[in-house]
Amino acid sequence: MAKEKTQYTCNECGGSSPKWLGKCPHCNAWNTLIESVAESTAPAKNRFASLAKTAEVTTLADIDATDVQRTPTGHDELDRVLGGGIVEGGVVLIGGDPGIGKSTLLLQALDSLQRSGQKTLYVTGEESGAQVAMRSRRLGLDGSQVSVLAEIQLEKILATLDHVRPAIAVIDSIQTVYSEQLTSAPGSVAQVRECAAHLTRAAKASGTAIVLVGHVTKEGALAGPRVLEHMVDTVLYFEGDTHSSFRLIRAIKNRFGAVNEIGVFAMTERGLKGVSNPSAIFLSQHSEPVPGSCVMVTLEGTRPMLVEIQALVDSGGPSPRRLSVGLDRDRLAMLLAVLHRHAGVACMDQDVFVNAVGGVRISEPAADLAVMLAITSSLRGKALPKGFIAFGEVGLAGEVRPAPRGQERLKEAAKLGFSVAVVPKANMPKKNDKAFEGLTIHPVERIEDAMTQVRNLD
Ligand code: TYD
Ligand code: MG
Repeated sequence: MAKEKTQYTCNECGGSSPKWLGKCPHCNAWNTLIESVAESTAPAKNRFASLAKTAEVTTLADIDATDVQRTPTGHDELDRVLGGGIVEGGVVLIGGDPGIGKSTLLLQALDSLQRSGQKTLYVTGEESGAQVAMRSRRLGLDGSQVSVLAEIQLEKILATLDHVRPAIAVIDSIQTVYSEQLTSAPGSVAQVRECAAHLTRAAKASGTAIVLVGHVTKEGALAGPRVLEHMVDTVLYFEGDTHSSFRLIRAIKNRFGAVNEIGVFAMTERGLKGVSNPSAIFLSQHSEPVPGSCVMVTLEGTRPMLVEIQALVDSGGPSPRRLSVGLDRDRLAMLLAVLHRHAGVACMDQDVFVNAVGGVRISEPAADLAVMLAITSSLRGKALPKGFIAFGEVGLAGEVRPAPRGQERLKEAAKLGFSVAVVPKANMPKKNDKAFEGLTIHPVERIEDAMTQVRNLD
């Protein structure tokens, strides 16, 4: 027997190398190459031949570019992140921690699509048909006509898709599917990539919309195959902590809609229910203002939401800790340096913890000002005034930069009854608009201004 060849595959980017290296030659990540059996090269040459169709060269003007047809799933919050609904032949990857509600949501969506007359197929590789049926009973989906296939072999799944020709199929999950063509184990980079590629081709060729469920690693990336993200049309991630009942779905990539759009759900006894007005769910309920808490208005996607940023500054040991939940830790270190240098607030010997309430992840720099005010408030043991909000990006030179669409943010805060705002000068509304009634707005240009304004507030 010929000696089995091995190769090394990067579990970050999926690139391969014939020998082991500390650093992946493709994506430069360290310690990510993992040994795997090299696939025999002979069938590889024409593995995709049957899938590739020859097409003629056409000019752009001659191609029919009708707007894509979207089929609403019947769940408004899901449709919002999808950009309006399921698209024919579109491939959606949906990732999230175990137990966060991926299977629940997709089963609910399939059921309402089936009830509206679409043919659906649910392929389960993790649970048996009986388990899926049990969940559907629990969700109150009595008499559901969704077809279920408990199968993990790619070739059989493809054959079923070809035979059943559903309008939408869910593969739960892509990590359990394996192809006979490869010798590696299900869930390995090679298998996941191969199976996803075949399923994507099948979706494009048949017009079936396919939803792939993917698992997320401890680091928060889709397990192994980052490659999947560029193969598919839409990437959705579940966020939020499994202990609270709220779940967020964020569109990371969408060829058919806006990115960073957020859908908000609440997990109930009967599955996930959309929350249509989520602007106030990320505020914790203090009867009186407490030190270390500052509310900001974040605007990710198209909806402004109010999020409470909490900070705790406590005397630390010789090497103080900086920890953040829901916010970028490097950014926190930078903000502490700016706070020291430009506002004279020193936290060198202090542990600093910051948290965005409700398990929401905030990536926009408009959170900077709120983070800094929360830290100062905790350090001084002095609460910010009641009904206070702040937002704005803070630069290394101590300048406060405007946040995109500041007026919308201010309107939302005014609508929810907030009364004092410290915002970047450029975000100051021009005229006296009725929408900002009840909200006193203090424009600031620099971080030291912001500190003085806050000190003068009470
Ligand atoms: P599930 O959809 O199985 O998660 P995933 O597929 O992402 O791993 O989510 C199951 C969790 O949701 C489980 O912990 C129980 C809870 N749950 C409810 O609270 N209400 C319900 O109606 C259902 C079906 C599940
Ligand atoms: Mg599941």
